[in-house]
Amino acid sequence: MLDLARLRADTPGTHDVVHFNNAGASLMPRIVIDTVVEHVREEARLGGYEAAGAAAGRLESVYVSVARLLNAQPDEIAVIENATRAWDMAFYSLPLSAGDLVLTSATEYAGNYIPYLQLQKQRGIRIEVIPNDGQGQVSVEALQRRLTDPRVKLVSLPIIATNGGPVQPVEAIGAAAREAGVGFLLDACQGAGHVPLDVKKIGCHMLAATSRKYLRGPRGMGFLYIERALCAQLEPTFLDLHAATLQTPDRFEIRGDARRFENWECNVAAKLGMGAAIDYALELGIVPIWTRIQALAGDLRERLAQIDGVTLQDRGAVKSGIVTFTLDRCDSADVQQWLASQARRINVSRSTFQSTMLDMQMRGLRDVVRASVHAYNSDEDIDALVQAVQAMSRGIAHAR
Ligand SMILES: Cc1ncc(COP(=O)(O)O)c(C=O)c1O
Repeated sequence: MLDLARLRADTPGTHDVVHFNNAGASLMPRIVIDTVVEHVREEARLGGYEAAGAAAGRLESVYVSVARLLNAQPDEIAVIENATRAWDMAFYSLPLSAGDLVLTSATEYAGNYIPYLQLQKQRGIRIEVIPNDGQGQVSVEALQRRLTDPRVKLVSLPIIATNGGPVQPVEAIGAAAREAGVGFLLDACQGAGHVPLDVKKIGCHMLAATSRKYLRGPRGMGFLYIERALCAQLEPTFLDLHAATLQTPDRFEIRGDARRFENWECNVAAKLGMGAAIDYALELGIVPIWTRIQALAGDLRERLAQIDGVTLQDRGAVKSGIVTFTLDRCDSADVQQWLASQARRINVSRSTFQSTMLDMQMRGLRDVVRASVHAYNSDEDIDALVQAVQAMSRGIAHAR
């Protein structure tokens, strides 16, 4: 059981805002803020390279922390500036060619779907969306049927979509992909720090995630996991003098570990900050975090559902902490603005048609209000949000 008073005392931002934008960027705990700020101070005092040298041991520990989070090995981890680039580095290195099929979910993020379309244009790959089951998540049976097609070369989807919805049954998906001998690239951007992620249990070959969302790390940081056996077979599309070494003027050698997907220059303070965020989450325990998120999100859904004009938009057998809804006769952008006003200071976000087009199209949605709950949110936070949405709904009814 988590100690809410400690969680909130650890999170200075809770004094200033009611934050339900954890799927955008969460509030950092003090240990993360201190780690980042202290390193920037060291850079100012000693010089950037010298400060990184002095922090060499702690920088190595970041790989150990990411590996612990995922039940992987440190040499299977690359630290990359965000989830999109981490995902890109894996995806574009895959030897996909004309006629190869990529299976994805309707909940795929546009940032990943656009690269599919690009390789469709450049290399002639094909994209197919696995149908949903009756509850709105990927149908594992439909996936298994499609995996009998020898043209399928990759299964690639997000564990949790940017616009909420189900926590996908990734262990069953991974088992099906493994059985068929097909690669599985998991976008865990919304999952890291939110739900338990064990790459051995999931069976994914590659996984990308970001620091600033449910992990509560700094912005501009993320990571990639590549299974050791696969890593040596994949040649990154981009190489630099960190990913590879020049042996002679006409020969280079690519390093053997997952850091072949990194580039040399990076935000060292943010890298240390991400390590601190992961250690903080691991110390609290991902299972207790996830248990609390589910309880809070469940409560929020129940209470929002009772408000006139509110329609909850989440589907799935297992729902995440990303609570989405629409309010009749009201733009999601207006709801966001109303909640953020000076008097309320409630942060939610808006998930748009463009960012998960297939899913939004299927459900006839233009956009949704996204209230993403984290473990440090309190019952008072939920009360504040519910009351503000209630007030807005009454205001609309009154104006009618
Ligand atoms: C499901 C999903 N995948 C990938 C990303 C991209 O993450 P980043 O902005 O760190 O590149 C996001 C960001 O919102 C996301 O929600």
